[in-house]
Amino acid sequence: MNRPLTIVTGSSRGLGLALVQALLQRGHLVLAIARGATPAGDAAPGRLVAWQQDLADAAAAAARLEAWLATLDGATLASATLINNAGVVADPAPLAASRADELVRALRVGLEAPMLLSAAFLRASAGWALPRKVLLVSSGLGRRGMAGSASYCAAKAGLDNLARAVALEEAARSDGARIVSLAPGVIDTEMQRQLREADPARFPESAGFAALKAQGRLDSPAQAADKLLRFLARSDYGARPVTDLRELDAPDPAP
Ligand SMILES: NC(=O)c1ccc[n+]([C@@H]2O[C@H](COP(=O)([O-])OP(=O)(O)OC[C@H]3O[C@@H](n4cnc5c(N)ncnc54)[C@H](OP(=O)(O)O)[C@@H]3O)[C@@H](O)[C@H]2O)c1
Repeated sequence: MNRPLTIVTGSSRGLGLALVQALLQRGHLVLAIARGATPAGDAAPGRLVAWQQDLADAAAAAARLEAWLATLDGATLASATLINNAGVVADPAPLAASRADELVRALRVGLEAPMLLSAAFLRASAGWALPRKVLLVSSGLGRRGMAGSASYCAAKAGLDNLARAVALEEAARSDGARIVSLAPGVIDTEMQRQLREADPARFPESAGFAALKAQGRLDSPAQAADKLLRFLARSDYGARPVTDLRELDAPDPAP
């Protein structure tokens, strides 16, 4: 039977690792990309290909992805999905107090890499007669500003409008892919720890993030991954290119 292919960036921990684990359990062929190792887990009936790759060099990562996809036969796959999950909160601080190299890295990993990987994926899979989806993991902070995280807010806002533009391009094709920039809600990961433990003098919202944790309002990575994968499987995936998982109350129109 043909296998679904899913590519997950930021796969070494947090939401990305939970996605990889859930996808392997569901029998997907998974390409996992992060600088660190991606642990496969014990029972993985699917197949995992894991690359240790720095997405700050987005052009190299995209070229490698395109070459790898060219080795696959689309006729042996059930579907192809790219989940651009990797993201970076540079050391939270006002813009003028932030290090230039950290700001650049946040934009490269958080916006440039998803854009170039999406382009490579769309090009390499264009002739495949199967459902193709791109998911950009965005944030509520793409839609509102937060002091002390300007590069993160800018990258996520960029993802949202990237999705709007590419959705129009793909809708004009008979075999177009579907794309969504998705805010996944708050998740108990290393990124959240970074935010709540940041210096309140440089990042006034750290107390708010600590309160979210203390009040038990964070999803576990496994819970968030399950919600995200159920969203990806919806028949109306792509109908709204900018979506917030927390605002998705309507049932799938064709479950
Ligand atoms: N946690 C939340 O509450 C929350 C809320 C809204 C949106 N999000 C979004 O959800 C996504 C996942 O976040 P998370 O909370 O799981 O974050 P996380 O725990 O910090 O994990 C980030 C992942 O990105 C990878 N990554 C970072 N820099 C990279 C680089 N240069 N090259 C390749 N991979 C890199 C990391 O792997 P390596 O370090 O091994 O490279 C790691 O696997 C992000 O896009 C984040 O913005 C999270």
